[in-house]
Amino acid sequence: MIDRETVQRILDAADIVEVVSDFVTLKKRGANYMGLCPFHNERTPSFSVSKAKNYCKCFSCGKGGSPVGFIMEHEQMSYGEALRYLAKKYHIEIKEREMTDTEREEASERESMLAINDFAMKYYQDFMANTDEGRDVGLAYFRQRGINDLMIEKFRLGFSPEKSDAFYQAAVAKGYNPDLLVKTGLVIRTDEGRVYDRFRARVIYPCFSVSGRVVAFGGRTLRTDKKMAKYVNSPESSIYRKSYELYGLYQAKSAIAKRDKCILVEGYMDVISMHQVGVENVVASSGTSLTEGQIRLIHRFTNNVTVIYDSDAAGIKASLRGIDLLLAEGLDIKVLLLPDGDDPDSFAQAHSATEVEEYLKANEVDFITFKTRILLKDAGADPLARSKVITDIVRSIAMIPNPVTRAIYVRECSRMLDIDEKTLALQLDRDVAQLAEKRVTQQGGAYGSQGTQGSLTQNGGPVAQGSKTGPEGSTPGSQSAQGSLVLDATQQKLRRPEMVLAKYIVKYGFMPVAEELDENPEAKPKMVTVIDYIDQELANDEIELTHPVVKRIFDDARQLYAQDWPAAQAQEAQRIEERRQEALQKGHQEIALRAKDLADIQAREQVLNEQVEAQAQREMTDFTMKYLEDFFLSSPDDQVRILSTALATERYSLSKVHTKYQHVDTELDRLQELVVRAVMELKFTILDLQIAEMQEEIRTNSIDPAKTQELMSQLFNLYQIKSQFAKFLGERIVNPK
Ligand code: CTP
Ligand code: MN
Repeated sequence: MIDRETVQRILDAADIVEVVSDFVTLKKRGANYMGLCPFHNERTPSFSVSKAKNYCKCFSCGKGGSPVGFIMEHEQMSYGEALRYLAKKYHIEIKEREMTDTEREEASERESMLAINDFAMKYYQDFMANTDEGRDVGLAYFRQRGINDLMIEKFRLGFSPEKSDAFYQAAVAKGYNPDLLVKTGLVIRTDEGRVYDRFRARVIYPCFSVSGRVVAFGGRTLRTDKKMAKYVNSPESSIYRKSYELYGLYQAKSAIAKRDKCILVEGYMDVISMHQVGVENVVASSGTSLTEGQIRLIHRFTNNVTVIYDSDAAGIKASLRGIDLLLAEGLDIKVLLLPDGDDPDSFAQAHSATEVEEYLKANEVDFITFKTRILLKDAGADPLARSKVITDIVRSIAMIPNPVTRAIYVRECSRMLDIDEKTLALQLDRDVAQLAEKRVTQQGGAYGSQGTQGSLTQNGGPVAQGSKTGPEGSTPGSQSAQGSLVLDATQQKLRRPEMVLAKYIVKYGFMPVAEELDENPEAKPKMVTVIDYIDQELANDEIELTHPVVKRIFDDARQLYAQDWPAAQAQEAQRIEERRQEALQKGHQEIALRAKDLADIQAREQVLNEQVEAQAQREMTDFTMKYLEDFFLSSPDDQVRILSTALATERYSLSKVHTKYQHVDTELDRLQELVVRAVMELKFTILDLQIAEMQEEIRTNSIDPAKTQELMSQLFNLYQIKSQFAKFLGERIVNPK
């Protein structure tokens, strides 16, 4: 909706230090700025902002990105929303494209549905407060459950009359559209055209979006009749996506932020009773297991979650898996078991606020410890069962994005499981690597589960657009246009080497790696860049990249390289040259002032020249790398942006200790070797695939001896090439899969 030119102006204007400073207090440290990471809870700063590179990144949890990426992540905005935000910050005027008729219709339909829900909520409230039936049945029920008037008002509780179409009649009389009444789910229309109220004769719990609009209802029957569903809930609709809502969040969010903790319970009554006793940072998943969308919702307000379980063992075991999701989001999870027979509702009703708080404090345990305990108890002494427990626990630990936290758990679990720490660490490493890879291709989260903004799923199902949809569910599905990612077997095999290649393209694509040989020794040597090299190598062997996002990255880079880069580079070269001349002039003046004799002048001039030259080179290197990275990290293509951000701001960098005490060559120092190797590895993998294919062909072609002979000799050729490759690539490839 924003035109290209304006987008570019916004991207050019956005300065990462200024953008981040609105949310994080930054201190200058060396070339960068540091602050406390806004994406997770920490005491010592690991959030680094690079003015030069115009991006930010947390060394601990891995989140960050370009200015647009940061705003998307931090404010949970869509790409368009983030651009608008930045435009406002930098006073850039946006010329909006007009909404199409369909878009306008959809928007107004959603508005109407929200209005209907608002009307319904007030109707049920009013009915409970002001009619005999409402007071005698609905209000009496809440009273009997110990709920006071304050809570009834706070949660807008109500009652829907016994008469089967009472609400429908009232709504129609008010002029609400019958079709929309059906769309919200408040009214059900049978195939024969009969209408009745979904929630008739039930007490009503309205569900609010984060911003406080009524998006759904839960209705509880007051009968004890086992055949009747205890709860009836609103169906999904364009204003209600169940997996992106949490009951009570609207009422709890400020308490969650203030106390920096979210307590997770199961049901409506649990939330309300906890509020009533004064514990207000409570939300409910409404009986189902948590979804990623709900977790992100929580993560906007805090990093700490305590899950309360009633002590029903079957329920606990079933929900353990779901909690792994919370870990993957980088949340700090604690678990609390209630005394036998209690649920949060009954517990809160029977205790005072301080008692509840104290019980919480004294009894919550971190999730990994809790899980280990539960599983171990079940496994008993059976060695097979115990080894399953170990695998399971390590897999949970691997979900935790922060390596330091992982290490702490490895130590703790090695003690609890009575198993060597090194063995655990080894298994953990494998799981972590596997997950990291999966994350990069799925991009739900790397970029902290990351990339949390992606809309890719392995199986192609559209991920509901929760965080993008915004609290009102205003634009469901608007971002899913770029499709999902399903890789076939060949693509799976080629994924790793193609990812590595993509990394070098994003980070160093336009950097020179070699000089082109020229017959004429006088000619100024032409530089071969990373992208040139990769392009030539792939073209020579007629290799097509298979991963769709990697391919787009490659194509985008080539296009930019051919179209915009030459002019941009020339312009920058000129600026650098001007600065160089200036520096030389100043240097010479200084030398004239200070030098003692001719020899001294010569010596000083040499130093000067070298310094100025090195400076100019550094400037060009910085510019080149930043140019391409800026381009990718701000790409409007969600998949391209997320993947390149993950690749460029590598999550698993060398440990700080390692870099502090010894010099390590940077990737840039070894660029040539690394890129050559990356290309080789890709070819090597392709070769392997070809060999497998050839072997298959020989197996199926065994009737014709001449043909087989021919195939065998081709296969032999491939083997030879492969062994040469292997020699080149060295011991790293011992047993390629
Ligand atoms: N739930 C539901 N549909 C059901 C049963 C349960 O949606 N048929 C959801 C409701 O959100 C409910 C939560 O799961 O609040 C927990 O279920 P349960 O423990 O059975 O209900 P309580 O909330 O404890 O309700 P009550 O105390 O009134 O029996
Ligand atoms: Mn209950």
